[in-house]
Amino acid sequence: MNLIQDLEILDDLDAPKLTAEEAEGARKVYIETYGCQMNVSDSEIVAAILRAHGYGLTRDPEQADVVLLNTCAIRENAEQKVRHRLDIFRAHKRKQRPGLRIGVLGCMAERLRHKLLEEEQLVDLVVGPDAYRDLPRLLEEAETTGQAAVNVQLSREETYADIAPVRYDSNGVTAYVSIMRGCDNMCAFCVVPFTRGRERSRPVQSILDECARLVEEGYREVTVLGQNVNSYRYTENGTVVTFPELLYRVSLISPELRVRYSTSHPKDCSDELLHVHRERHNVCNYIHLPVQHGNTDVLRRMRRTYTREQYLALVERARRIVPGISLSTDIIAGFCGETEEEHRDTLSLLEEVRFDHAYMFMYSERPGTYAARKYKDDVPLEVKKRRLQEIIELQTRISLENNRKEIGRVHTVLVEGPSKRSPEQLCGRTDTNKMVVFDRHDFRPGDYVRVRITDCTSATLFGEPLGRTTLAESAHTEPALI
Ligand code: SAH
Ligand code: SF4
Ligand code: F3S
Repeated sequence: MNLIQDLEILDDLDAPKLTAEEAEGARKVYIETYGCQMNVSDSEIVAAILRAHGYGLTRDPEQADVVLLNTCAIRENAEQKVRHRLDIFRAHKRKQRPGLRIGVLGCMAERLRHKLLEEEQLVDLVVGPDAYRDLPRLLEEAETTGQAAVNVQLSREETYADIAPVRYDSNGVTAYVSIMRGCDNMCAFCVVPFTRGRERSRPVQSILDECARLVEEGYREVTVLGQNVNSYRYTENGTVVTFPELLYRVSLISPELRVRYSTSHPKDCSDELLHVHRERHNVCNYIHLPVQHGNTDVLRRMRRTYTREQYLALVERARRIVPGISLSTDIIAGFCGETEEEHRDTLSLLEEVRFDHAYMFMYSERPGTYAARKYKDDVPLEVKKRRLQEIIELQTRISLENNRKEIGRVHTVLVEGPSKRSPEQLCGRTDTNKMVVFDRHDFRPGDYVRVRITDCTSATLFGEPLGRTTLAESAHTEPALI
C-alpha cells in the first residue's frame, strides 16, 4: 500500500516548515497524531524536543527514519485505527526500510505498556505522555542496541512548561496552549486518568509568556487546553491562581487575541468563570460542556458528580450571565445498565438545552476503569447503535434549526485559511465557534471579517463578507441583525 495516499485520508494539514539544515542530512521524524487536542499539542512538544536534539521533521512517511504515532485509547475503535496504521508501517519497514524505527507515544503507550513489545512485538519505542523529554535517549538506545526502548513513567510535576512547541502543522492563526495535564475525576467509563495520570497545572507566567509570544508571531487565537481545563489551579508564593483568573489574564495580553478553552467539566464551571466570558470581549462566547447523559441515575453510575437538574441549572445560569453563549457537549449512548427510559432522558435533555453541537459516542468498555470492574457492559450492540442513531438524528436537526436562526445575522469571523472545497473560498469561525465559508475577495488568514450569514447546513454557515474589522470594534456591534 502507498503510505502517502493512505495518509492523505487521515491528514490534510499543511506541510511542516523545514529549515535548510533539516532538509539535508538530519535523521527525519514523521509524527502522526490521533485523539484529542491535547495530543496535537503534545506532538508539538515532541517535535520541539526532537528538533533540539538534531532531528528533522518530515511530512512524508516514506522519507522518515523514525515514525511516531501519538495515540489515543479513549474507545476501542481509536486503538484499532492505530493498530491498522502500525501494520502498514511494519510492512513498510520489512519490505523497504529495515532501518526504520517505529514508536508508539501517548495514551495507548501508557495503557498497553509492555504488551505492545512483548506480546505483539509491534514497535521499537513505547513512550508515555509524561516521558517525552526522554525520547532522544530512548531513540538512541533503540538505535544502538537494536532492542525496543520503553518509558511509561507518569509524573506528578511534568507540564513541559519550559518547552516552546514547534507548531509544524499550524495555520499561523490559531494555536493550542497546554495549561494543565492529567485528570483526577475518575469518571467510571474513562481511561484518561490511567493514561494521563494526576492533575497538575503549569506555572502561570510560562502560560502568559507563551501566549504573548504567539501574539508577537501574528497568531490571533489561542485555545488553552487541559483534560479538565477549568480545574486549573496554580499556587505561587502562597497565592492561588484559579482558571477564571488565568483566563482573564490571558485575555489582557491583546484585545485582538481571541481566547478559547477546552475541555471543561460542569463541576468547575463557576459563576466567576461565566463573568469572565461576560466581561472580556475577546474570551469567546462558547463553552464545550460535556454532559455525557440526561438521566441522573446514569450520571451517578458514571460518577459525573452532578444531576440532570444541576446541569440544566448551570445551562440556565450560563445563558443568563452570558446572553447568546453557544454551548456544545459530549454524549455517551448505551452505558452499562442504560434502560430505554434512561436513554429517552438523554433525548429530552438535548431537546431542552438545544446545544449548537455535540460529539456523540457509543459506550466502549475500557479495561481497568471503574465501569469495567464494577458494571456489566450489558446494552446489546444493536441497541447501542440504534440509540446513538436516535441521538445523532435529533442533535443534527437541532443544530440545523439553530443555524437557520443565524441567517441574516452578521458575525465577526476570524479567517483560518482556504475552505476545504474551494481555494476561491475562505473559512473561519465565529466567536460562537461556528464554521463559516465565504468568498475569498482579498481577505487573508488572520483577518477579522464581518460576514452576513446567508445559508447553512447543520455543520456549516455560509455568508457574504462585508469588510474587515477588529475584535475590539466588533465587540460593540455583534451579533447584529441587518
Ligand atoms: N476531559 C473531557 C473528556 C475527554 S474524553 C471531559 O471530561 O469532558 C472525550 C469524550 O469521550 C468524553 O467526554 C466522553 O463523551 C467520551 N468517552 C470517554 N470515554 C468513553 C468510553 N469509554 N466510551 C465512549 N465514549 C467515551
Ligand atoms: Fe475522563 Fe471524566 Fe477526566 Fe473527562 S473528567 S478526562 S471524562 S475522567
Ligand atoms: Fe485520547 Fe488520551 Fe486524549 S485517550 S482523547 S488522546 S487524553
